[in-house]
Amino acid sequence: MERRAARYRVSVDASKCRGCGVCALVSVCRSPERCVGCLACYWACPHEARYLVPAAEGGTVRVTVDGTPLEVPGGVTVAEALTSAGFRFNEPGREPSLACRTGGCWSCALVIDGELERACITPVRDGMRISTDVAGFEPRRIAHGPEPHLVGGKATPWWEVDYASYVEAAIWVAGCNLRCPQCQNYLVTYDNASPALTPREAARLLAECQRRYGTRGVAVSGGEPALNRRWLVSLFRELARLVEPEVRRHLDSNGTLLTPDYVDELVEAGCNNIGVEPKCARVETYMRVTGLSDRDLASRYLETAWRAIEYIYDNYRDRVYLGVGLVYNRDLVSLEEVAEAGERLAAIGSDIQVTVLDYFPAFRRRDLKRPSPREMLEVKKVLEAAGLKVVIVQTSRGHIGPGDRRRPGP
Ligand code: FES
Repeated sequence: MERRAARYRVSVDASKCRGCGVCALVSVCRSPERCVGCLACYWACPHEARYLVPAAEGGTVRVTVDGTPLEVPGGVTVAEALTSAGFRFNEPGREPSLACRTGGCWSCALVIDGELERACITPVRDGMRISTDVAGFEPRRIAHGPEPHLVGGKATPWWEVDYASYVEAAIWVAGCNLRCPQCQNYLVTYDNASPALTPREAARLLAECQRRYGTRGVAVSGGEPALNRRWLVSLFRELARLVEPEVRRHLDSNGTLLTPDYVDELVEAGCNNIGVEPKCARVETYMRVTGLSDRDLASRYLETAWRAIEYIYDNYRDRVYLGVGLVYNRDLVSLEEVAEAGERLAAIGSDIQVTVLDYFPAFRRRDLKRPSPREMLEVKKVLEAAGLKVVIVQTSRGHIGPGDRRRPGP
């Protein structure tokens, strides 16, 4: 995501490969005969057995873009070929966008030889017909689930969770704009092989699951759901139509893309429960936690998430239940920084629900030691001392929430 794909090819270090199957089943190559440098497998490999080598020139191919014949570089992805021809993918706030670059979010989809297909992982081929006008196609996205969930996410209202009944029907969508080395859901995040659903299909499945299990909410988590805006807004429109008005409609996001206009659009579409996860307070920590090496980008993402919290709280707290996610592991975040994040949050609103995830060993950080429940209780105390009234910590023995178990009054 931070490197331009066309400049590299991926090689495999056989001494690091554990045969885990992620590259065969989860992040599946679209061009096994010749690497086109999409880097999807590079980002998905849990054992970092893939490395980048400079790419040789791949000649040129002839394609048609929106009816115009063009000569573009060969041996690369459609995205790279079009970028070389001057096409811009990342106009702020709209698709097509190279948001995940690993084939999960479908926000880069174009019409390729008559079908909606992902530009970021599809190899460009001689004679391809490409249309950048996707208006006639429903957006798609890879989604796992739905499944009923006992705990929910960082914004699931804490008083609804009794750890015995299902509280939400949830889907988890593929594709993320972060590269967290300790990604807690990497088999979904890096999936580019499962079928992609339209918003209508995903909403229908969610609504059925909600009815079958009688959950109080429906939720979309990930990966990062906000990447494919057209898909996500349509999903909430469909959900608002399909579930009863009292059923919560929950977005579980990292917040990096939740600009005010995006929040407005989601609320207007029927989303009434939003989780935002700045994770921490400082940009250096954010880079460590998210795997981003571009400081400007990390800083922009972190600030967008923090501003989203403020915007939602200031403008929508009467109709959107807001929850905030922070993370803790002593190898990644200090208690001083937890306090700093708590103070920043309390200055926005002391009644905002905050959930702290105890980062456990996963994905590329199997060396992490899971914080003990005692450590997480210390984190809880630090946040309460910062002025926050609704603090929940995830621990190896379950979630520990507000002590008095009383729902806040109106
Ligand atoms: S950017 Fe291509 S699928 Fe996400």
